[in-house]
Amino acid sequence: MELAGKRIVLGVSGGIAAYKAAELVRLLSSEGASVQVVMSEAATHFVTPVTFQALSGKPVFTDQWDRRVANNMAHIDLSREADALLVAPASADFLAKVANGLADDLLTTLVLARDCRLLVAPAMNRQMWENPATCRNIASLRADGVDILGPACGDQACGETGPGRMLEAAEILAEMIAHFQPKSLAGKRVLLTAGPTFEAIDPVRGITNLSTGKMGYAIARAACEAGAQVTLVSGPVSLPCPLGVSRIEVSSALQMHAEVHRQVASNDVFIAVAAVADYRPANPSAQKIKKGAQLKPPTIELVQNPDILAEIAALRAPPLCVGFAAESENLHKYAEHKRRSKNIPLLVGNLIADGFGGDDNTLILFDDDGAHPLAPAPKLQLARQLVNRIAVLLGRRR
Ligand code: C5P
Repeated sequence: MELAGKRIVLGVSGGIAAYKAAELVRLLSSEGASVQVVMSEAATHFVTPVTFQALSGKPVFTDQWDRRVANNMAHIDLSREADALLVAPASADFLAKVANGLADDLLTTLVLARDCRLLVAPAMNRQMWENPATCRNIASLRADGVDILGPACGDQACGETGPGRMLEAAEILAEMIAHFQPKSLAGKRVLLTAGPTFEAIDPVRGITNLSTGKMGYAIARAACEAGAQVTLVSGPVSLPCPLGVSRIEVSSALQMHAEVHRQVASNDVFIAVAAVADYRPANPSAQKIKKGAQLKPPTIELVQNPDILAEIAALRAPPLCVGFAAESENLHKYAEHKRRSKNIPLLVGNLIADGFGGDDNTLILFDDDGAHPLAPAPKLQLARQLVNRIAVLLGRRR
């Protein structure tokens, strides 16, 4: 329950994406948030208040003259109770009003009267989004500290394609969860590797391992939630890229090595989570290797891959380097030895039986202060604890 105890006012303005707001109410509620829906008059032409009432379990407000509010100040009462005000979809007209401080209905009055953060998920036709007036309004809103979520690019209800699509409900949910995380890495740049590598034997075969990338992707998400600008160099995995993270896809250890060196200079932190193959075939075959009774089984000669983490840690002015050690036994001994031999300030140890492939893990953080065991938990929760520790170590470097 990522939003347990949070009170969210969800504003719905007039746009066809209002149908996605119904799913959003369901997702926010399923994470423990209590959701109070406020609709503009235009929004009620797309989805009825009954739908939102049924999904949120609360009467919906649409009118600033609503007689149900004892003091007749719905705009004040609703915003004072909220931890965040989220407007999805936010139409071009709604954004223009808010950018200019207009307050001619309950939703815009409530926005003007708020004393909590405002997040908006724009939804409109691409020409409307790119119109200079909308661009001006968005710039004003950003300058006023409003969080603009999206919009995405793609097919639009009007039949056109381009920027202006509202983010999907699940993406807005992830943004909402991120909003409530402490911003311990604000202004920092974090580079990560994740997933396995694939070392080609021939065009269709190769050497790889069972890493799913789940732990690395969870750390990328947690670093992004904490306010960092995150670049993820990922081996082949089947995971979606976390929203806000910039992903570079690679296959082999050599590609990962080259990409990390290309990216590393401007980063404050490097976290090597990838399960990089230690060896690769020395001479991968350009053609598919054939079998046959008369042919001897091939011998594959291996050569060692570069150790990406050790090389980055040995740079003249390295970022704060964090390594991972997945061991099948003697975790404390091997992890501390790895930390010292690669000369890195923080190493994260886990037993293969605890973490490989699953959604949960058990981690121990090893640094100069000693070993810090983290209780078994979902990978995202552990990733957030790791990010907090990294923020502490970064603070000490100054
Ligand atoms: O040496 P070992 O593979 O056990 O060390 C694990 C740590 O080193 C991980 O953080 C892993 O991402 C990193 N590593 C690397 N390049 C390699 C091998 C491991 O960055 N070639």
